[in-house]
Amino acid sequence: MNPPSSASFPATRLRRTRASTWSRALHRETLLTPADLIWPVFVTEGEGVEEPIASLPGVSRWSVDGIVQRAREAIDLGIPCLALFPNTPPEKRSKDGAEALSPDNLMCQAIRAIRDACADEIGILTDVALDPYTAHGQDGLVDEEGYVLNDATVEVLTGQALNQADAGADIIAPSDMMDGRIGAIRQVLEAQGHVNVQIMSYAAKYASAFYGPFRDAVGSRGLLKGDKQGYQMDPANAEEALREVALDLAEGADSVMVKPGLPYLDIVARVKQRFEVPVFAYQVSGEYAMIEAAASAGAGEREPLVIETLMAFKRAGCSGILTYHAPLAARLLNG
Ligand code: PBG
Repeated sequence: MNPPSSASFPATRLRRTRASTWSRALHRETLLTPADLIWPVFVTEGEGVEEPIASLPGVSRWSVDGIVQRAREAIDLGIPCLALFPNTPPEKRSKDGAEALSPDNLMCQAIRAIRDACADEIGILTDVALDPYTAHGQDGLVDEEGYVLNDATVEVLTGQALNQADAGADIIAPSDMMDGRIGAIRQVLEAQGHVNVQIMSYAAKYASAFYGPFRDAVGSRGLLKGDKQGYQMDPANAEEALREVALDLAEGADSVMVKPGLPYLDIVARVKQRFEVPVFAYQVSGEYAMIEAAASAGAGEREPLVIETLMAFKRAGCSGILTYHAPLAARLLNG
């Protein structure tokens, strides 16, 4: 049925406004620009190091000097923010993930180097969770049975967040899915004078099969036994995502994230509609790999696939998208 404001055919022909390029441009409802993108990058030890990641074709780990170059590249492309993830060497991984608290860990080195080279020309988002630092690949502390402990983990995460803020992080992004961590982190940031450090909470993060290549990138895939279903969300649940978002906002999150991205755009739309807050989504590693595989197999063309999927995030209500395609997309959008 037509909405009341439309006459019926042929007085209304929706194809009229689609008939030319200029008219399509004029009627476009959604805008996608490089300023909508957050570029996730992987840091590794050494100098002058680039390590391609086989399961993420076109994505590499970079040593800190290379990360600084990526930051400059992002600035030139109009990408406002980098998301940092470390590939911690095996000898620095432990049962309690203590390396996360070291003021000299890879994350802190990268934060300081970007800050030195680029001042505040670019935002630095840092992941809070223990999986890149633990010998077992879980995001938190585990007991003898392998259960990931909530409250004890929150204490460590709070220290990790403070460590990153002290190094100069702009946005703390907890991806661990422990209960109560946003409030605890906000409290410590306030107490330590980091009043303008943002928290972007991975509020609705699902126990997804789309994270495989990321776990290769941070070197945790081979270490992880079992799964993360005891803390990450059941893909069957939507109501529960709204409860997660409500709690994180009440605890002091500035913005919330839904993850993975494309299969969860219904969650993005519902969160946006319900809460009217900045919502971000993470187009995760497996989604990136699927697009690359489709392009390599000739099933679709890379560039239109990238732009169409990113546009879908914006249309669903995202303020921005974390995507490994950020530099390619920015180049395309910049013409
Ligand atoms: C872990 C974390 C994961 C991702 C971001 N932070 C993986 C996981 O939960 O196992 C996935 C990102 C991606 O797949 O691109 N704290």
